[in-house]
Amino acid sequence: MPTLATLISFVSLLAGIHAIRIPFKVVHTHDRKSSHPTRDTVNSTISIVDSSNSIYLGDVVIGGTSYYVQLDTGSSDLWVQGNPANSQGLGIDAAITYAIGTAEGELATAPVSFAGYNVSNQMYLRVGQNATFTGGLFSTGATGILGLGPSSGSILRAKIGNASADALVDRIFESDPTTPNFVSFVLERLGDGTPVTGQLTVGDIVPGYEAITSQPQLPVIILKSLLSKDQHWTTYIDGIIGPDNTTISYSSSVPNTPKGKLVTIIDSGFTLPQIPRAMSDDIYGRVQGASFDTKNQWWTVPCGQYLNVSVVFGGVTLPVHPLDTVSSDFGLKDINGNTVCLGTFQPITSAFSVTNEFDMIMGDAFLRNVYTLLDYGDFISNGTTSDTAAPYIQLLSTTDAAIALNEFISTRQQNNGPINYSLLPSSQEQHSPVPAGEVVEHYEADIMRYLPEIIIGCVAVVTLILGCIVWRCCCTKRQRLARAQKKRGAYSNTKATYRQIDEPGSAPMGMTPMNYSSSLKSPGRAYYPDHQAVLKTRVPPGGVFPASTPMSLKGVGYSTTVLYPRL
Ligand SMILES: *[C@@H]1O[C@H](CO)[C@@H](O)[C@H](O)[C@H]1NC(C)=O
Ligand SMILES: *[C@@H]1O[C@H](CO)[C@@H](O)[C@H](O)[C@H]1NC(C)=O
Ligand SMILES: *[C@@H]1O[C@H](CO)[C@@H](O)[C@H](O)[C@H]1NC(C)=O
Ligand SMILES: *[C@@H]1O[C@H](CO)[C@@H](O)[C@H](O)[C@H]1NC(C)=O
Ligand SMILES: *[C@@H]1O[C@H](CO)[C@@H](O)[C@H](O)[C@H]1NC(C)=O
Ligand SMILES: *[C@@H]1O[C@H](CO)[C@@H](O)[C@H](O)[C@H]1NC(C)=O
Ligand SMILES: *[C@@H]1O[C@H](CO)[C@@H](O)[C@H](O)[C@H]1NC(C)=O
Ligand SMILES: *[C@@H]1O[C@H](CO)[C@@H](O)[C@H](O)[C@H]1NC(C)=O
Repeated sequence: MPTLATLISFVSLLAGIHAIRIPFKVVHTHDRKSSHPTRDTVNSTISIVDSSNSIYLGDVVIGGTSYYVQLDTGSSDLWVQGNPANSQGLGIDAAITYAIGTAEGELATAPVSFAGYNVSNQMYLRVGQNATFTGGLFSTGATGILGLGPSSGSILRAKIGNASADALVDRIFESDPTTPNFVSFVLERLGDGTPVTGQLTVGDIVPGYEAITSQPQLPVIILKSLLSKDQHWTTYIDGIIGPDNTTISYSSSVPNTPKGKLVTIIDSGFTLPQIPRAMSDDIYGRVQGASFDTKNQWWTVPCGQYLNVSVVFGGVTLPVHPLDTVSSDFGLKDINGNTVCLGTFQPITSAFSVTNEFDMIMGDAFLRNVYTLLDYGDFISNGTTSDTAAPYIQLLSTTDAAIALNEFISTRQQNNGPINYSLLPSSQEQHSPVPAGEVVEHYEADIMRYLPEIIIGCVAVVTLILGCIVWRCCCTKRQRLARAQKKRGAYSNTKATYRQIDEPGSAPMGMTPMNYSSSLKSPGRAYYPDHQAVLKTRVPPGGVFPASTPMSLKGVGYSTTVLYPRL
């Protein structure tokens, strides 16, 4: 277990190597002459600040003061460290727990402006000046987190229990009926030679990306109401095309997933995409000189290795920039002190879903390659727009594989010698060792997944045993009777034989499990009402989650989980 000092030095290393851009105030240039501005006068585009290709920040104005907060599609609450003016404390304390830290403070309301929209009495969590957030969020330039996830995942909404605690984007859509219910964003990649300004909009398409409207609408997978607190921007993914130009095969652990598809969460709060271990091995295990870091659970590879990986959604192939697949952003060194690069498609470990809700999480290293549109649809409980359909996600590719290859060559050739394009034959693929704890987790997940079948199986076995016992008893009794009758003589055998076919009741016995089966099948995962208890077993020894944490992914929002040494 790494010490706090290691953690701090890692954080400062990160902060030191990659100068954090100075946040700048967004100027809204659009005409605002009208005293009652309508949607037409709102410039809903804000710039997104890229902190080291790790965390993406946006400006939110609370009570007149500007705060730079992490824009996190994986959580649903707003909190800031500080004491904004014009803010009303409610005298109610709350804690929002993320994978890597907890934000604790007092609930408060204040007028809030975001992306050109003003909301009065917006509820947020005011975290004290002296607060610390494990994992060094503040060192990235962020002073809090703005959750852009579905409101059913909001801790504050659940705590207050009425619409006065609705999340910020919900309040924007609710208060302005003319605003379409979507948020869209494009993320910058530092160090690729082509400056793309990161931008986020509420209800508008970022100019230049209009083609997004013709991209497939990926339906959001809605969890059963019992699990609605775990609701995320979750959808089906067709798969990942590996560096040898073949689709990496893997079957989903999520029940009822269509054949050939996997389930992924779109989470801007995760720096690194989290994918099943075998898929990560297939991407990096054939690179000459690749090495698996068991402590951090990631692959490191030579920085000059070109890997062409694509992700497929809704039948559309989205190339991933090779600078994102093999990242030089984290200043990693091998044991000899030589610079190595990070394999960003990391095996999913701490965020692994024991309840089989998803297979993978697409974080920033993937999201930098697309323009993302998240349509909240009827996630907005009090949506007054015409947009009351089911929520969906649209992704428009922003990476051209050929241009990306040239950028990779010009960026990596100077420092890292010749670019290597070849891979080892698949027979020589390395596989990352599976930690013992993970084996147990996967067993737990399998038990969860097959619980209905297991129950049916047990019922069947018990029924069979009981049946045998009954049959045995009857037989013995009948044999005794038969023997007694034989002594008495005359036709008794025929009668006994006839009865034997009838008596053990094989037909009714056999029916029993079938009846159970039909009644058990439909509700599926509703059989895990105690899933929270299971998740608690995943709390790391350091106790990052308090016992009351509603759900692990609730907070896994805060990405750097996957960057810093695991606690
Ligand atoms: C909206 O604001 C952004 C920066 O915040 C600016 O780049 C853009 O030009 C503005 N759009 C319009 C239509 O004024
Ligand atoms: C939001 O508030 C600011 C400052 O008070 C004002 O300039 C702006 O016009 C308001 N915008 C809307 C859409 O009401
Ligand atoms: C915060 O820290 C300062 C100085 O370190 C201390 O004076 C102050 O009492 C602390 N405030 C709280 C609320 O703990
Ligand atoms: C929402 O709940 C809070 C706390 O329970 C209560 O003070 C407030 O009046 C409620 N607001 C509405 C609009 O019902
Ligand atoms: C919807 O929200 C708006 C603003 O928050 C409020 O004025 C309105 O009464 C709400 N409508 C319903 C049906 O709850
Ligand atoms: C990268 O892979 C994609 C998908 O397999 C393929 O279409 C594309 O031609 C490849 N690009 C290069 C430069 O090899
Ligand atoms: C990758 O595979 C696709 C279809 O399987 C093919 O069209 C394409 O030419 C291949 N690209 C490379 C670079 O081999
Ligand atoms: C490139 O990869 C091949 C095979 O994977 C390996 O034999 C070779 O040594 C590598 N070259 C460099 C410069 O890493």
